[in-house]
Amino acid sequence: MALEEVTREKWATRLGFILAAVGSAVGLGNIWRFPFQVGQEGGAAFLVMYLLFVAIIGIPAMLVEFVVGRSSERNPINAFDRLGHGEWRFIGILGVITGFLILSYYSVVAGWVTRYTFASLTGAYFGEAGAYFGQISAGPAAVGFHALFMVVTAVIVAAGIQKGIEMAVKVMVPALLVLLVGLIAYAFTLEGAAQGYEYYLSPDFGVIAANWTSILPAAAGQAFFTLSLGMGVMITYASYIDEDRNLGVDGGWIAFLNTLVSILAGLVVFPVLFTIGTEPGSGGPGELFAGVGGAIAQVPGSRLVGFLFFGVVTIAALSSAISILEVLVSYAIDNYSIERPTATAVISAIVFVVGIPSAMSTDVLTLFDATTAQLLLPLGVFLTVIFVGWVYQDSAKELAKGTGSDASGTLPVLWLWYVRIPILIVVGFVLVINATELYGTLTDMLL
Ligand code: PFF
Repeated sequence: MALEEVTREKWATRLGFILAAVGSAVGLGNIWRFPFQVGQEGGAAFLVMYLLFVAIIGIPAMLVEFVVGRSSERNPINAFDRLGHGEWRFIGILGVITGFLILSYYSVVAGWVTRYTFASLTGAYFGEAGAYFGQISAGPAAVGFHALFMVVTAVIVAAGIQKGIEMAVKVMVPALLVLLVGLIAYAFTLEGAAQGYEYYLSPDFGVIAANWTSILPAAAGQAFFTLSLGMGVMITYASYIDEDRNLGVDGGWIAFLNTLVSILAGLVVFPVLFTIGTEPGSGGPGELFAGVGGAIAQVPGSRLVGFLFFGVVTIAALSSAISILEVLVSYAIDNYSIERPTATAVISAIVFVVGIPSAMSTDVLTLFDATTAQLLLPLGVFLTVIFVGWVYQDSAKELAKGTGSDASGTLPVLWLWYVRIPILIVVGFVLVINATELYGTLTDMLL
């Protein structure tokens, strides 16, 4: 393992890490997945639970992954060996498998979005938005755009951490925020805006109290997915951070910016859905396309509006896909002495092939999404929490680095105990409920 001794690349600038992590977090999870989760789980009630979950569980759980990454300076599998607990490396293996599966269908959805970006220029979906989605979402055309998206992702990752990812996200993240704000201003002028805001922003606490056992696990799954937790992405990115950085401050910024994008995306999507009379949550994975695409077709300047909207989503998806591929590639480079370009090409090709069934059938895609987000991500977080809370002895010390206090400081100690008991219990609870629910869904589907 001679390569392990070579000095590891570091993020070139202070902002590099935050931007790259935000680039990973912000993606289809915010714009495609978040709105239909809000729709399926009762609107504003879900929003409240989701925000609480991100703040109370998501951020401390993100720090758990940062601690493993920075203290080991290794990919998620080797990290556990390096910290002296090789018997826990199965957590890393689970993470890499999860990443592999997520990327395979993520790229298919990103392929649809890429297609809609181009189709906006010609107005191809303006006539029958729903039917158009049906035509392009499954079959050879979907496979083609899945391939295109994987190639673009691979080219950026092959260029290396600093040149590729850091430069790409420096442009992408600010562009995304600016474009979303423009689209919100546009959505504000729509007829259904008031209804959309009411549905999205004014919670009925009775609904939360009555349905919290279904809203909580959905909010949890969404929070992990959107924060890129549970599959080693944040471990990998944190393995390139310097010791003088304050992990808590960085984690707070990343979660804040990511949440901001989801909230902004909702401010575009719900006014639009109410304007065209589509019930939120009813459209499944096609909702964003049929619903928002249909509305875009009605507005003045529809080609430009459509191009901007789907272009933004493509950019967001790209920076997330980069982060997943980076985990897989960094593992191959560290362990098998493979050159970065070769590793990237081979892995992307395999991911592409694994994604083909999802590109041929949206039912298969939904199955991949449900299994990974509901089961594998919470499981990955749960196991990492046990490791950092109870097995690895220097967790508080690592968190304290760059904060000016030491391991016995109030914040590191509080965080450690918070991870050890409350977080473990909540994530364990979520895992049990989600596993039971998924089991129900699977037996329904298969019987
Ligand atoms: N966080 C990304 C999104 O919300 O679209 C998706 C994602 C990236 C999930 C990386 C998991 C991950 F490890």
